[in-house]
Amino acid sequence: MTLNAEVMGEFNKIFASYGLDLVRYKPAFIKRRLDRRMRILDISEYSQYALVLKNDRKEFEEMFLSLSINVTNFFRDSTVFDRFQLSILPQILSGIGERRKIRVWSAGCASGEEPYSIAMLFKQVIGKMTNLDIEVVANDVNKMAIQFAERGRYPAKSVESLPLNIIENNFRKITDDQNNVEYEVVQSIKDMVTFKSGDILSDTIQSFDVVFCRNVLIYYEKEAQELILTKFYKGLRDSGYLVLGMDETLFGKRCQKLFDPLMARERIYKKISQPNN
Ligand SMILES: C[S@@+](CC[C@H](N)C(=O)[O-])C[C@H]1O[C@@H](n2cnc3c(N)ncnc32)[C@H](O)[C@@H]1O
Repeated sequence: MTLNAEVMGEFNKIFASYGLDLVRYKPAFIKRRLDRRMRILDISEYSQYALVLKNDRKEFEEMFLSLSINVTNFFRDSTVFDRFQLSILPQILSGIGERRKIRVWSAGCASGEEPYSIAMLFKQVIGKMTNLDIEVVANDVNKMAIQFAERGRYPAKSVESLPLNIIENNFRKITDDQNNVEYEVVQSIKDMVTFKSGDILSDTIQSFDVVFCRNVLIYYEKEAQELILTKFYKGLRDSGYLVLGMDETLFGKRCQKLFDPLMARERIYKKISQPNN
């Protein structure tokens, strides 16, 4: 089945009516997900599926799940966090001079596991250095994900595979009358993170030491990826760091001039203060 620009535009309007902006996403990615839902519902025409999607919120929720764009975990790809802690954090600490404040942005933070993991990592390393202030700013276009993140309560299965010391130092176990278990992020970690709902493309960002933007760019078309990466470049301090997802790279030639790949496997990059042209 072919999905022409006109039909794609129709689907984008329907997504937007539910508050989901997919205009800059890769059409091939959206097509695969539409096709999958249509096969499950035994629908062969896009126009017919568009009608269903338009009038049935439950189907939109199924479609949203099938896009799985909110998938995340605490300390996702733990080797990235390990390398960041061992090699990057010491460099940041030795470079801050008199400033005493470190700012980190978690762009596309979904339900909050990433920014909380970052806060936990910083607290573990610099916990006793009381003269340092860590600010983690986290945003996502999905308002519901941000509301969930602000509450900071996670089902047991999201937490129980973490190392025991991380659980003990950063979560409070809550058991309700029916013996359901949840874990709530402790207040000292919540205090380090500020959540905002908003689009990376329209948010103003400034003076960050690190930007984590993991598993977000992968959904976007090349032009949008370049716009976002250029934005990160401008929003980072000189010699700031950028951390991408394991399946993401510095796509366009232009962006490759902006960042040095420090750890190629972990996708950790350093801003080049004065890029060569
Ligand atoms: C797969 S999740 C990644 C979460 C986390 N960064 C991680 O790697 O585990 C992608 C998130 O990016 C968000 N997102 C996508 N485009 C965005 C944009 N333009 N601005 C802000 N958030 C965006 C989605 O809503 C989703 O929650």
